Amino acid sequence: MNHSLIEQIAENWKLAASPVRPGHLVVDFFRRALPSGTGWSGLVQGATPEAIDLMVSRGAERIVSMDLHLETMEAMRTLAKEDWSRVKTVVGDWTEDKPDFRGAFDIVISDGGPHFLPFPAGWTQLFENTHRQLAPGGKAVVRMWVEPKGFPPFREYFEDAVNRFEEERRDRTEDEQKSMFIEFVSEAKSACLVGSVDPDGRIVEERMWPAFQLLEEDLRAKYGSGPLEAVVSALFDRTNPVGEDGAHLTSAPGQDLFRPVLEDAGFSVDVTVLDETHLPSWTLVVTATKV
Ligand SMILES: C[S@@+](CC[C@H](N)C(=O)[O-])C[C@H]1O[C@@H](n2cnc3c(N)ncnc32)[C@H](O)[C@@H]1O
Repeated sequence: MNHSLIEQIAENWKLAASPVRPGHLVVDFFRRALPSGTGWSGLVQGATPEAIDLMVSRGAERIVSMDLHLETMEAMRTLAKEDWSRVKTVVGDWTEDKPDFRGAFDIVISDGGPHFLPFPAGWTQLFENTHRQLAPGGKAVVRMWVEPKGFPPFREYFEDAVNRFEEERRDRTEDEQKSMFIEFVSEAKSACLVGSVDPDGRIVEERMWPAFQLLEEDLRAKYGSGPLEAVVSALFDRTNPVGEDGAHLTSAPGQDLFRPVLEDAGFSVDVTVLDETHLPSWTLVVTATKV
C-alpha cells in the first residue's frame, strides 16, 4: 500500500466541496433514503465518507465500500467522522457479478459513480449488476449531474462567480474565507464541463480545456500566493492520483437517455433535482427501486 499516495488523496479531498463532493442537500437526501431500524445492509459504490458515515450512524448491520482503487478507500477512511471498524472495504469493479453480493443489500449509494463509466454500455452493466445485488424492494440512490440548459459562456459565469466570492468573503475570518474559496473553486471546476457533453451522453474532455485554462490563469493570478494558495495548487500542481483506471469523467447523459437504461435493468426510477450550487438543475439524485 502506498502511504504517501493515501495522504495526498486525503489532502486533495479535504480541499474539495460540492459539487465535487456531496453537499448538504445530497447528504440529507441520502440520510432520508436509508432504511430505518437495524439489521439492514448497505453498499457504497466508491468510498464516499459522507455516505459511509451515515450508514454507520444509522446502525447498518453490514456496510461494504467498493472501489477499484485501494488507496482511495484508505484515504477516505482517514476522513471518517464515525467509527469505520465494521466497514468492509473491497477492491473490485462495480460492474462485476460477485456471487456473495447477490440480493445482499437493502440500499446501494453511489455518489456520481456512473459518470466514470461509458454510456450506455457501462451504465447497463452497472445497473444490471446493482439490481442483482439488491434485496427485493431495495433501492439504489445515485447522485448524478446533467448539463444545465441555457448556461452562459464560461467567462461570463466565472466573472460572476469571482465577484460573488469577493463580495461574500468580506469581513469573514481566514478559515471561513478558505471554506468559501474551496466551494467556489469546486463549482467553477465543474462548470468547465458545461458544453463538453455530446448528444449521446459522452464527455469530450478536450472541449472543456479552454474553460479550464481560463480558470487556471485567473485563479493563479488572483489567488496563487497568500492564504488561498494551497487550494489553487491542489487543483493545478498535483497530478490527480485518484484511481488511475477510473478517475476520468466519461459520460453525463440527460434524463431522457439514462432513464430507459435503468428501467430496462429492472428499476422504477424517480429523479429529484437538488439546486445546491449556482449551476442550475445540475445535481440530480436518482432513486432506482428494484421491481
Ligand atoms: C473521483 S473518485 C471518488 C469519487 C466518489 N464520489 C467517492 O467519493 O468515492 C472516483 C472513484 O471511482 C472509482 N471507480 C471508477 N470506476 C469504477 C468501477 N467500475 N468500479 C469500481 N470503482 C470505480 C475510481 O477508482 C475512483 O476512486
